[in-house]
Amino acid sequence: MTTIDTRVFDAPAAGPPTRGDAGGLRHRPRRLRRTAAIRDLVRETRLSADMLVYPLFVCDGAGVRREVPSMPGVCQLSVDEAVDEAAAARADGVRAVLLFGLPASKDDRGTAAADPAAPVQTAVRAIRGRLDDVAVVTDVCLCEYTSHGHCGVLDGETILNDVTVAHLVEAAVSHAEAGAHIVAPSDMMDGRIGAIRTGLDARGFEDVSIMSYAAKYCSAFYGPFRDAADSAPAFGDRRTHQMDPANTDEALREVALDLEEGADIVMVKPAMPCLDVIHRVKARFQRPTAAYQVSGEYAMAKAAARLGWIDEPRVMLETLTAIHRAGADILITYYAREAARTLAGQDG
Ligand code: PBG
Repeated sequence: MTTIDTRVFDAPAAGPPTRGDAGGLRHRPRRLRRTAAIRDLVRETRLSADMLVYPLFVCDGAGVRREVPSMPGVCQLSVDEAVDEAAAARADGVRAVLLFGLPASKDDRGTAAADPAAPVQTAVRAIRGRLDDVAVVTDVCLCEYTSHGHCGVLDGETILNDVTVAHLVEAAVSHAEAGAHIVAPSDMMDGRIGAIRTGLDARGFEDVSIMSYAAKYCSAFYGPFRDAADSAPAFGDRRTHQMDPANTDEALREVALDLEEGADIVMVKPAMPCLDVIHRVKARFQRPTAAYQVSGEYAMAKAAARLGWIDEPRVMLETLTAIHRAGADILITYYAREAARTLAGQDG
């Protein structure tokens, strides 16, 4: 018969210490850190490749693979190369891609955003045609398509909210027509989630999901992205629609509105500067929550790694673990392929 000797819990250990340490401590958290097997048993947060989303920048032409100087390893890709990259990511274990477009021509209204022959729509069809188990997500915004680089249609220097939303609906519908599983509006116009949901439903795309960039901050960490997507605003900034990094109650309100309007997944962006926001959003709403480890976060790690100042694979996994631990179910990251490969290596 097994009896539990409660004395070991109730009384300080008796007798002389058998090794170097004194015997009087009851709580020794280090016990569970002694070996890799024990540490693995008690790990609270586990990353898996299933939660990774890999962003791709799709441009015109064929055979184009142009590295973005401020984002080592990230390229502008023509559709054929983007499909190859998605296939390579799939082979690494990444099962979702997020597409951004660099159109052949831009105008002041961002017309190309809804062009069925534009790079994103073409890439969606091509990826869906070749890879049947990859989730295809598309970024919906006008900033990559407008000649002035702003996220909407302008009246002078002011972005017209409702006119812009009507354009975004057309862009989202064109992505759905091409075969996108999930559309991801990143523009931060008011009311766009409801309008896109209505627009998709009206065209028979009830099954296309919306991943809303719900709490998207006006962040300096998007700098390298604007090189990659050629979308830097020609004047001014994005402070009249993206959120002030000083606010978090406002983030909850943005998320609540987007959920009410029909968002299926809500996103917080950027990721590491917003761990508190991710945590509050997940705790409050308990809905699928994504976080975007953005271009500047990636560029900082890459730059420090190049200088030999950090251990890049460890920094990569630590930051992604922290973002997941904070509450993000879905991790959008330029590190997706490297992370998936590293995780596979650890398992095997
Ligand atoms: C488009 C968009 C941006 C990012 C995602 N979608 C840029 C911006 O808002 O200026 C940033 C992503 C990144 O920095 O990696 N509006």
